[in-house]
Amino acid sequence: DHSDHCWLKAGVLYSLLWFCLFQPPPARYGGRHMVTLIPGDGIGPELLSHVRELFRFCCVPVDFEVVNVDSTMTSEDDINDAITAIRRNGVALKGNIETNHNLPPSFISRNNLLRTSLDLYANVMHCQSLPGVRTRHRNIDIIIIRENTEGEYSSLEHESVSGVVECLKIITRTNSLRIADYAFRLARERGRRRVTAVHKANIMKLGDGLFLQCCKEVAAGYQDIAFDAMIVDNTTMQLVSKPQQFDVMVMPNLYGNVVSNVCAGLVGGPGLVPGANYGTDYAVFECGTRNTGKSIADGNIANPTAMLLASCLLLDHLRLHAYATMIRRAVIATVTETRLHTADLGGQGSTSDVVHSIMKEIQSTGPLTQNI
Ligand SMILES: *[C@@H]1O[C@H](CO)[C@@H](O)[C@H](O)[C@H]1NC(C)=O
Repeated sequence: DHSDHCWLKAGVLYSLLWFCLFQPPPARYGGRHMVTLIPGDGIGPELLSHVRELFRFCCVPVDFEVVNVDSTMTSEDDINDAITAIRRNGVALKGNIETNHNLPPSFISRNNLLRTSLDLYANVMHCQSLPGVRTRHRNIDIIIIRENTEGEYSSLEHESVSGVVECLKIITRTNSLRIADYAFRLARERGRRRVTAVHKANIMKLGDGLFLQCCKEVAAGYQDIAFDAMIVDNTTMQLVSKPQQFDVMVMPNLYGNVVSNVCAGLVGGPGLVPGANYGTDYAVFECGTRNTGKSIADGNIANPTAMLLASCLLLDHLRLHAYATMIRRAVIATVTETRLHTADLGGQGSTSDVVHSIMKEIQSTGPLTQNI
């Protein structure tokens, strides 16, 4: 085990050196962008084929490099190929890759491996009430920023004494400052007023205490943005009773997972909310919640909204804002039409009905008027 670890370290150092020396330029050949496409499992392949169809329809200057990751394989070759492709292209759009819970603990979730290998430290999910989608609460507009590389997801568990498992939650000053700063920068960029740090520092005094302390330190440098903190249990209660009180939220990994799923549910469910993972060098876009939708795969009944909106985030990231706006507007206009609602929203519309209606919507608004 120890020697494995050393080899791993040497490998990491080697790749670091390699990347410092040969940082690849952003791929943009002949004015077109190359994007890595990882279909994933469940409804991923189906939804991504609709994205490609829509991009072709809109003449979006993006080409896809498809990398399949087979979640049934124990070897890491597939995921390493995917990671290499993202390093080359700088950006990816992906479906969720299934994680088999029966595999040994040494098997790290492919999704997790991808985020940590590429140091995609900020998971960003914007939960906004959509017109035409009936939900218990209206006027929700929350940006959730989740630390994406450490905390409870450090994959450091052991059972040295039988019947006693230690699962390490890693909180570092460096990564806490980094995510807090990301949250405040984003808040300022988007004209937001307040950042709320979510924690459990009353119980995890050192770990969450450090996270909270880092948020406070960063907040001091952003006098224009209000800062407050809320304990995670109260947060979930406040969210389901009065979600409108929240603006931007920042939190460690596991709370981020729970809170973002609660918020996705509040605005209509997993079929609607896109998600993004950003690092210093790379960005990966996907659906906001991390389920594969295996049970409805290939049935032409999945809601394509979340993945299509994720593709708009990708276009924004590539600075293809006019395309992003055009597609986003049509997607939102279509989800407003109750008769086209898919089963997750209580309707009977099919995935392809929704996509075709989006195309019609784009056609009816005419060609792009903005400069691209
Ligand atoms: C929970 O949050 C609400 C809203 O910010 C606050 O008024 C209340 O005091 C908090 N409750 C606890 C137990 O911290």
